[in-house]
Amino acid sequence: MSEPLDVTPDPALTEKVVNLAKRRGFVFPSAEIYGGFRSTYDYGPLGVLLLRNVKNQWWRSMVQMRDDVVGLDAAILSPPAIWAASGHLTTFSDPMVDCRKCKERWRADQIGETCPNCGSKDLTDARDFQLMFKTNAGPVEDEGSVAYLRPETAQGMFTNFMNVLTTTRKRPPFGIAQVGKSFRNEITPQNFVFRTREFEQMEMEYFVPPDEASTWFDYWVAERFSWYTDLGIPDSMLRLRPHDPDELSHYSAGTTDIEFLFPWGWGELEGVANRTDYDLKAHSAASGERLEYFDQAANERYTPYVIEPAAGATRAMMAFLLAAYDEDEIAGETRTVLRLDWRLAPTQVAVLPLSKKAELEPVAREVLGLLQPHFQCDYDVTQSIGRRYRRQDEVGTPWCVTVDFDTLEDRAVTVRDRDSTEQVRIPIDQLLATLVGRTSAH
Ligand code: GAP
Repeated sequence: MSEPLDVTPDPALTEKVVNLAKRRGFVFPSAEIYGGFRSTYDYGPLGVLLLRNVKNQWWRSMVQMRDDVVGLDAAILSPPAIWAASGHLTTFSDPMVDCRKCKERWRADQIGETCPNCGSKDLTDARDFQLMFKTNAGPVEDEGSVAYLRPETAQGMFTNFMNVLTTTRKRPPFGIAQVGKSFRNEITPQNFVFRTREFEQMEMEYFVPPDEASTWFDYWVAERFSWYTDLGIPDSMLRLRPHDPDELSHYSAGTTDIEFLFPWGWGELEGVANRTDYDLKAHSAASGERLEYFDQAANERYTPYVIEPAAGATRAMMAFLLAAYDEDEIAGETRTVLRLDWRLAPTQVAVLPLSKKAELEPVAREVLGLLQPHFQCDYDVTQSIGRRYRRQDEVGTPWCVTVDFDTLEDRAVTVRDRDSTEQVRIPIDQLLATLVGRTSAH
């Protein structure tokens, strides 16, 4: 982990990426035909692929490539008992102030003494605003039917601790990983999908013997930092920031954030926290169930400590887009290119018949069929080949395969590389091996 360089973010970058995301079908404002709905977003045909790739890469590194972490997919709707025990009902709030002049609402800790909207200093006193979404499960709307949409995925891992322990026979140190939606009634959602009320998290709770907690904490901070750099975010756009004692969450004995250099400044991508035995003990006390591990060799029972790397999937997707966005010059023309790692790129290979003429279609479709089981492919016959290359560059497609009239004679195609724009002629029967070879650096 190198010291971050002094990089100055481009303030216009957010707008460029937001425009690209809308124009090319990554992210749409939700309910747009009704004028949109309060900072909610829908992921379009390319966005759903990119977001899925981010989540898959997380799952691959956290679950598939390890033998000490298992997965879980817990319910989003949850009873108040969970959130009473976890401390969220009493402490999961932000301080809110109203501007008496323009009536805007703000998070007191983000604005100081002046309303950012109208400049008035006539603000109400700060009061706590509960961030959890409350609803009712079932037909009767009374106190007995209250349910909450989870504000973090983590609690499902704690409430299922014994289920996972007994069904998998794992022993500390071991982890439970989960990817899924969480909901927070944020007072000021902002910066596109950076802070929204509905978002996706990728969290892992790693249960360890208490005396190993600090070693595992350091291990997970380093591991998670390199996940981002391995997938293409430059070291210079990332930094680690340990929390001051007064900003720690109610459950944490220590948290280090992995921050990304967003166009508006450094912002959290992920927090790695030492949650101690806080959650397991709290749920044990509230439920009456023993949530402990019995170490047979030592003949002792203990409550594991928890090290938690907690990342945002939608926020990470935005960081990957911002880090990948580039403009360069090709043959005197400016091009926009997303330099996404091939594992994240929504389309990995685009198959492009040179012309719409019917005789190219059978061989172009044969090439598509050859590649589709191995890569996410696009097939595009519209517009000139140059414009089609630009369209693929703009959404980060690493390789384009062009089928032309010579292909009918020599059974070879042209493979074009997004970053170098270099083109090479490859026989169709070596195409798959060639493309797989290009991915094998990872
Ligand atoms: N279980 C611990 C936990 O939830 P957190 O720091 O509140 O910790 C973890 O959330 C990650 O989830 C954050 O680093 C961020 O990436 C993402 N996240 C949190 N609130 C979000 C929001 N309103 N919109 C988008 N992502 C959010």
